[in-house]
Amino acid sequence: MSKSIRCDLGRTNPLGMRAYYPLITSFLCVDSISTSKKIWHTCMRNLFDVAAPEGTLILTSLGDSGSYHVGAKCFPSANLDRDELYHSLLSLGFKKESIFVSIAPLEEEEHTS
Ligand SMILES: C[S@@+](CC[C@H](N)C(=O)[O-])C[C@H]1O[C@@H](n2cnc3c(N)ncnc32)[C@H](O)[C@@H]1O
Repeated sequence: MSKSIRCDLGRTNPLGMRAYYPLITSFLCVDSISTSKKIWHTCMRNLFDVAAPEGTLILTSLGDSGSYHVGAKCFPSANLDRDELYHSLLSLGFKKESIFVSIAPLEEEEHTS
């Protein structure tokens, strides 16, 4: 990483400048902006807007949960399931054969809500 730039995925131009990246990673972020699936999808589209054509997106999302805790801090979660994630990626233009979704169940002690 050479530089860190603040972004707002709620905006159509999340970085405030035109930029396209061949690799985008996002971990427990887009799904943790709001409990609203509509807002989640808008933010997914805005994230996708900075992807270069044929680029790679590596994303983790919390499944089937309305919130996410880190210590005392509580983040919202859009309560997504595998199909919603898959169909969102399809609707953004990802080719079926390029989408790989893996589900990793949490250990019992990792459940927070
Ligand atoms: C649950 S935390 C995940 C942080 C980190 N990726 C991790 O895995 O520990 C959710 C993150 O989403 C960020 N976030 C909230 N609203 C955002 C927005 N509109 N645009 C971009 N990021 C946002 C928050 O700043 C927070 O860091």
